[in-house]
Amino acid sequence: MTSINEQLTKKFQEALVTSFGEDFQAIDPQVTTARDLRHGDYQANIALPLAKKLGKNPREIAQTIISNLAVDTICETPTIGGPGFINLKLKPNYLENKLKSLYQEQGLGIEKIPDSTQVIVDFSSPNIAKEMHVGHLRSTIIGDCIARTLEFLGYDVLRLNHVGDWGTQFGMLITYLKEVYPDALTQADALEIGDLVNFYKQAKKRFDEDTEFQQRAREAVVKLQSGEQESSQAWELLCDQSRREFQQIYDRLDVKLTERGESFYNPYLDDVITALDAEGILKKDQGAQCVFLEGFTNKSGDPLPLIVQKSDGGYNYATTDLAALRYRIKEDQAKRIIYVTDAGQSNHFAQVFQVANKANFLPDTVEVTHVPFGLVKGEDGKKLKTRSGETIKLKDLLNEAINYARKDLENRLQSEERKESEDFINNVAQTVGISAVKYADLSQNRSSDYIFSYDKMLALQGNTAPYMLYAYARIQSISREGNIDYENLGENIQIILKEDTEMELGKYLLQLSETIKEVEKTLLPNRLCDYLYELSKKFNRFYENCPVLKSEEPTKTSRLLLCDLTAKTLKLGLSLLGISVLERM
Ligand code: ARG
Repeated sequence: MTSINEQLTKKFQEALVTSFGEDFQAIDPQVTTARDLRHGDYQANIALPLAKKLGKNPREIAQTIISNLAVDTICETPTIGGPGFINLKLKPNYLENKLKSLYQEQGLGIEKIPDSTQVIVDFSSPNIAKEMHVGHLRSTIIGDCIARTLEFLGYDVLRLNHVGDWGTQFGMLITYLKEVYPDALTQADALEIGDLVNFYKQAKKRFDEDTEFQQRAREAVVKLQSGEQESSQAWELLCDQSRREFQQIYDRLDVKLTERGESFYNPYLDDVITALDAEGILKKDQGAQCVFLEGFTNKSGDPLPLIVQKSDGGYNYATTDLAALRYRIKEDQAKRIIYVTDAGQSNHFAQVFQVANKANFLPDTVEVTHVPFGLVKGEDGKKLKTRSGETIKLKDLLNEAINYARKDLENRLQSEERKESEDFINNVAQTVGISAVKYADLSQNRSSDYIFSYDKMLALQGNTAPYMLYAYARIQSISREGNIDYENLGENIQIILKEDTEMELGKYLLQLSETIKEVEKTLLPNRLCDYLYELSKKFNRFYENCPVLKSEEPTKTSRLLLCDLTAKTLKLGLSLLGISVLERM
């Protein structure tokens, strides 16, 4: 179903052609939902820039457009506001019919893209033998939401986990492994390094203290890189160990990822250097191979280089990303590549993209985007820590959220004198706890830092997961009580919008597809959260003002359908955030 915005946009484009000629066909009429609802529901802002271009008065331009605008089945007569905005108020009858089709359509009337297109979302991407920290958690949650949204719209999404599984630190780790677990490679399951992060710390300590150990570690790197069997096996073991730990987190978050770590691109690193050289942009600087950048300068104003091969011949993070980019374009045929990492890596990606452009790695048909996000902070505004001052393990963090949710639920059950089974309690606590962590993250504008607070994210009021889940469960209980055969209403659907709050809810329900398209474009999940929150508030206002079960037919069924549409919209929206709803809680 075409969204209201698309429908209006088309009408405006026709009016622009009638008014000013064929040349104006491709112009975006800038239709948006109204900023001030007193003036209408939608507005078009095109008259202002157009007047500038044509050297005319914007209100006159607006008048000309309106006189050629064929929207009388959709809106009341358009009006001109301020310096030349065109205001549009939708007709109730139009809305009623639109909601009726929305109800009848599968997938809430959201149009899929016409041809499936390959998209890559590179997210989560923790590092082997290191802590998977809250930054990776944020990347995992945001990346998953972006992937889900694009999948829903019909894109072919490859969810890539660009795990840090390569680099000189593996020499140190392998050497230490052989020293403390000499049997690890020969005996199956001999290895149970409970805490790989501690193992890493001990290896590092050993490395820093002993030069002979350092020498062996360096040799191990060379052996590993040349594919020597024993070193490769040791490396595999370490990766497996980490992988298992990461997987536990992904399972709990219900996030699917395909691991394709840095090591995967090893065979393609030499080619990057050859290609950069062939383009004539490779320069040797203090022994290292570099590409000099535009717009990145040092203190004295000289251009900075992006190092792609160190003076010892080794490759780095940037080389791997260049190789990965080429592979993803050539082999995966990706048309849009999205990288979800903290804002601290913005320069890295800007530099990699710039070099890729210079080297003609990036065809015009491919769009690359870095999706940066801010830091996660504790309630004291500092780095998130445990009470005793250690870094928080993600496993513990999720458990804690679930515990909080369980306590809240138990208190509620007690005060309502309700009895529920242990299974019910476990399931609700699990869903609410995990959803709260996800929603708290996604509802923030991702570019800002965010304060991690169990109390805030688990509050039953406000823009939180529990609030949204509760709204959904409540509507479902109204729907159950309404007891109509929702699935088999067929053509006998009638939606009536009489009361203001009813009208407001109806209009807003029709904006889901526009909201999802906006997330597709901006990659800002908080836009969807804002929409869902606003929708629940509009629903509450409607429910306070408009009796549902106690009203007469045909109003009663119409209102029940509005309830059902709201529930379906919440369920779909939340699913794109990676949150599953509860029928009862
Ligand atoms: N492993 C990196 C880190 O922990 C993130 C990798 C992001 N993806 C990429 N293609 N560089 O910071």
